[in-house]
Amino acid sequence: PPNVTAVSGFPKSLLVDASGNPIKASSLPVNSPYIVLFEYPMTGEPNFLLNLGDSSGKPVEIPPSKVVIPQTGDTYDFPGGVGPNKSIVAYSAICQHLGCTPPYIHFYPPQYVNPSQLSASEPDQLTAQALLAAKQAKVPALIHCDCHGSTYDPYHGAAVLTGPTLRPLPAVILEWDSSTDYLYATGSVGVGVYPTGSNGTPSQNPKSDLDSSFGSPVGNKTTVS
Ligand code: FES
Repeated sequence: PPNVTAVSGFPKSLLVDASGNPIKASSLPVNSPYIVLFEYPMTGEPNFLLNLGDSSGKPVEIPPSKVVIPQTGDTYDFPGGVGPNKSIVAYSAICQHLGCTPPYIHFYPPQYVNPSQLSASEPDQLTAQALLAAKQAKVPALIHCDCHGSTYDPYHGAAVLTGPTLRPLPAVILEWDSSTDYLYATGSVGVGVYPTGSNGTPSQNPKSDLDSSFGSPVGNKTTVS
């Protein structure tokens, strides 16, 4: 998939690829392990686009949901997916535990949320606890941070599946123009106190994590043949 950037200013930003061409919603592969990054609302604030599907790779409608913030017990409304199948979502790529960003943040598509396959190819990546949480939430895929193992539910507003994070990933509010197939970022929900971690440690500066891997496909450990 192409790398994307949000342009045209804040708050409504057209998502374009590295060549400046608008991203077409219909072109986003379903359940790709290569998360597609864009910066929004400011340069250096990475987010990622996902086109979510079921375990057979068919796009699924992502309905609105209430997201709980375990840190406070508060909730907020996640607006659900957009695009021709209402299956496209976008989340902050800054882990809300201590601020790790891609390449530490991964999207694990269904074939990797399978204990037998994981044990063969991904021995240290996902814990049994995370897999159980995904199973209980009835979601076929999850978002995982390699730094300390937090997992998030991409089908329900990036709600927390397993800690140590105490906060969901903020979601980018997307708009889809059905006449052009273009995607726009128009705002965010779930943005609160910057990730503090369970011990209140301030996040590292996310910009310092933006190396050459930023804007490139990530998930080298999850390449699907
Ligand atoms: Fe992601 Fe700690 S920074 S789990």
